[in-house]
Formats: sequence, C-alpha cells, structure tokens
Amino acid sequence: MDTNSGDVMVSIRGVSKHFGHLEVLRNVSVDVPRSTVFGFIGPSGAGKSTLVRTVNALEDIDSGEIWVDGVSVHAPGTNLNRLRTEIGLVSQSFNLYPHLKVLDNITLAPIKVKGRPKAEAEERARALLASLGLGDKAEVYPTRLSGGQQQRVAIARALAMEPRLMIFDEPTSALDPELIKEVLDAIRGLAQTGITMLLVTHEMHFAREICDRIVFMAGGEILESAPPEEFFAHPRTQRAREFLSAMLDR
Ligand SMILES: Nc1ncnc2c1ncn2[C@@H]1O[C@H](COP(=O)(O)OP(=O)(O)OP(=O)(O)O)[C@@H](O)[C@H]1O
Ligand SMILES: [Mg+2]
Repeated sequence: MDTNSGDVMVSIRGVSKHFGHLEVLRNVSVDVPRSTVFGFIGPSGAGKSTLVRTVNALEDIDSGEIWVDGVSVHAPGTNLNRLRTEIGLVSQSFNLYPHLKVLDNITLAPIKVKGRPKAEAEERARALLASLGLGDKAEVYPTRLSGGQQQRVAIARALAMEPRLMIFDEPTSALDPELIKEVLDAIRGLAQTGITMLLVTHEMHFAREICDRIVFMAGGEILESAPPEEFFAHPRTQRAREFLSAMLDR
C-alpha cells in the first residue's frame, strides 16, 4: 500500500468507530488528492463531523488507518501536537479569545507553538486579515465583530499556522443568512490557492460550485463519491435523492 505517494494528502482506509453501541463510522475509505476540495454532505447524524475529526485525531478510531501527508495519524508514535499544527480546523463555533485583540488571536499560536518572531507573525497576520477583507480589524476585540467577521478571523487564525490541510465543519451554520456569503467567499478564495480542503457543509450550491468531489454519507457510511456535476445531476442512491430534494427545496 503506497500511502506515501506524493499526490494523496489524506488517505482514510477502512475506518470504523463506535460511540458505545452506536456505530458512527462503518468501514469508511476515501483518498483526498493534494490540492483538491472534498465536500462531505449528508443528513444530520451521518457521521460527517466525526469523520473529519478523526483526521486530526480529535476522535479516535476503532479500526482502519488514516494518513495525512504520509503520517499515520492514529499510530502510537505519532506526534499529535505537531500534526495538529499542520491541520487547520474551522467549525461552527469560532472560539476566539475574547480578551485578545484580533491580531493577537491570530499570532498567538505561530509565536508560542511555532516559535515565529513576533514581527514576522504580525506581518503575516495583517496580510491574512487584509486578504479576508478584515484589514481594519487587527486592533479590535472579537466581541466587537459580527459573526461573519469572527468566523473570518478564525479562518485567518487557522491559516496563520500555514497548514497543509484545512478542515471546515459547517463553517457557516451558526451564521445569520446575510453573513454567510462573506464567509463562503473567504473559503472560495482559499480553495483557489490550492490548499487541500475537507469541507462539511449544508450549503449545496456552494459545495457544487467549489468542490472537486462530493462524498455523500448517511448512517456512518459513504454511499456515494462523485464529481459534483455528476452527483447533483444524477445521484445514484435513493438516500441521496431524498436528501437532495429536501435540501434543495429549502
Ligand atoms: N461524543 C459523542 N458521544 C456519543 N455519540 C456521539 C458523539 N458525537 C457524535 N455522536 C453520535 O454520532 C453520530 C454521528 O454524529 P456526527 O456529529 O458525526 O454527525 P454529522 O453528520 O456531523 O451530523 P450534523 O449534520 O448534525 O452535524 C450521531 O448519531 C451522533 O449522535
Ligand atoms: Mg456535524
């Protein structure tokens, strides 16, 4: 098995997981090529969050194996702190430090964890903020920002670590509708930089637009995996057809 092959960033092989008696992942396998965006969609409880969280070992697994850029994530000797510095995770909750200004929220980990000089970290943070349309917010406290702005700060914070992989788990689902677009625009811009991304989303049109591949999950299994134009036009399973008609009718 050639898991070190340079073109695969994330390789999930035969992963299963239980929470108590509940089987939440059943023999899940998927390979995510470098510089691609994979969209994970499916009904609530499908196991999408659990799956993407296993990729940076926020969840353990019962069986199978996961590789990120050639590193076996759940192997006993793996340095998880190091691995997690290379994987950016953005979820519904922004979890910014309320007592730190935006700039300091972003530079904290690069300085403390990666040992970056303060000036260099701040320069990069300002550039990231500017690229996300937040150039004037560096000196502001997060509580003074809208949800969409806070989420973009959270994205900047993740990017400040120069991750190899970005994981988004429903990054817009806690936002008011009028704030969703600015966050989706930020993610779209990021996708164009060629970083590898795993994106869990209920935004079907967005997934169709930016993903290279759609992975449809239900009941802990991957039921379909296809390019978006194929998946959305011709879902193969009844479960996906039902899901899509419910989602696209909303
Ligand atoms: N810590 C936990 N303990 C027990 N059960 C859990 C835990 N986390 C998740 N589950 C269960 O695992 C299943 C999969 O949950 P998961 O959060 O991965 O689903 P999801 O596809 O992300 O759903 P949603 O679209 O609602 O976010 C669900 O049945 C959920 O109730
Ligand atoms: Mg979820």
